[in-house]
Amino acid sequence: MDRFKIQGGRRLEGTVRISGAKNAALPAMAAALLTSDPVTLQNIPHVRDIITMAKLLAHMRCRVESPDLPPSEFTIQAETVSLQEAPYELVKTMRASVLTLGPLLARFGYARVSLPGGCAIGARPIDIHIQALERLGAQISVEHGYVEARCKRLRGATFRFPKITVTGTENILTAAVLAEGETILENSALEPEVTDLAELLIKMGAKIEGVGTSTLRVQGVSSLHGATHAIIPDRIETGTFLVAGAITGGDLLLTDCEPQHLVAVLNKLKECGVEIKCEGNGTLRVRAAKKLVAADVTTEEYPGFATDMQAQFMALATQATGISHVRETIFENRYMHASEIMRMGANIAVDGNLAVITGPTPLSGAPVTASDLRASASLVLAGLVADNTTWIDRVYHIDRGYERIEDKLRAIGARIERV
Ligand code: EPZ
Repeated sequence: MDRFKIQGGRRLEGTVRISGAKNAALPAMAAALLTSDPVTLQNIPHVRDIITMAKLLAHMRCRVESPDLPPSEFTIQAETVSLQEAPYELVKTMRASVLTLGPLLARFGYARVSLPGGCAIGARPIDIHIQALERLGAQISVEHGYVEARCKRLRGATFRFPKITVTGTENILTAAVLAEGETILENSALEPEVTDLAELLIKMGAKIEGVGTSTLRVQGVSSLHGATHAIIPDRIETGTFLVAGAITGGDLLLTDCEPQHLVAVLNKLKECGVEIKCEGNGTLRVRAAKKLVAADVTTEEYPGFATDMQAQFMALATQATGISHVRETIFENRYMHASEIMRMGANIAVDGNLAVITGPTPLSGAPVTASDLRASASLVLAGLVADNTTWIDRVYHIDRGYERIEDKLRAIGARIERV
């Protein structure tokens, strides 16, 4: 299993190109199941989850082609999908496989998708996905670890999400576009990845109103056609590199990003004393604060502070003067990184969903273990500022969501290698 070896203490300087958003590319790839025409997706990030989704679509006998390797563009054609099934072997490595449920059901009237296991950060059930599909007329049974859904043709309905769910909104939206009649989805997620999916669906001929609001109104159509769509930049990768620049006292230029998608994170970092400037046309500049100061963060659904940035912020807070309070409200167990960063010398007290970080504390390199995608990013950030050497185990977690992060970091001066 790959490990990272990081020798900390270097200021990061230079330019980083931000990749396409994994969490926008995954639902977009699944949406290609809705039509027999080719769908071309550009600005695809080279991350493991994307490869898994491509394998899953190929398993369903979709044609999945890319002009380059590693793929930054996919053309997916679901013309002869003879297998409407997402098997456990593939789903267990990537929960987002559940995003094929809605499109398969809407297009073929049948889907059999393995229940995604929980994961390190929480149980992550899909009960709301199932409730919503049943409201659209699907007969659903859950047995032997699989969700089996059938429906001759989905019928439009009004559904209010009892809890805001990102992939839940995406799953139901991709089902409703081919349902008969009107579907109104209330309390929908507002994440930019949901909006990006809606814009792709509209390019494919779907009729959706209220995009970017919590009430989506869909007029079902009988079929959709192909489209070409560029995936939005990854707002979490952007935030991660902003913290990398801040925590190392560096000076970074981030290109091909969309600052509007992480305003809450930008404001919080500025509150900590980080200098951030929008330089126009998708470029952000981040410079070390004179002195980092503590700040409090509560994670919230978009447009609030993203839960996917909580671990990265915690790493920064260990270097800020004062006491920072972090409250995680989305997932029930998203502090695994805290105990690992404590082993490097951080002063963190976790009590339920509240973490109290007292800084600044010098961090010293240590062997640590990654537990989930964003926790591993925070361990890398801590390693960049720790003295001597940090070894990070199980970096396959980080490969799921960051495109060759060690190459991007080395290009701006970090001493990091994959061993
Ligand atoms: C998406 O996960 C993202 N993944 C996550 O990113 C992200 O952390 C999360 O949204 C929150 O922003 C993708 O988009 C592929 P939710 P998702 O459904 O959709 C509960 C990463 O790092 N819930 O919005 O699975 C759930 O348990 C990943 O790339 C139910 O109870 O998250 C959680 O507490 C990690 N029943 C809350 O809602 C349901 O049916 C929000 O979950 C669905 C969700």
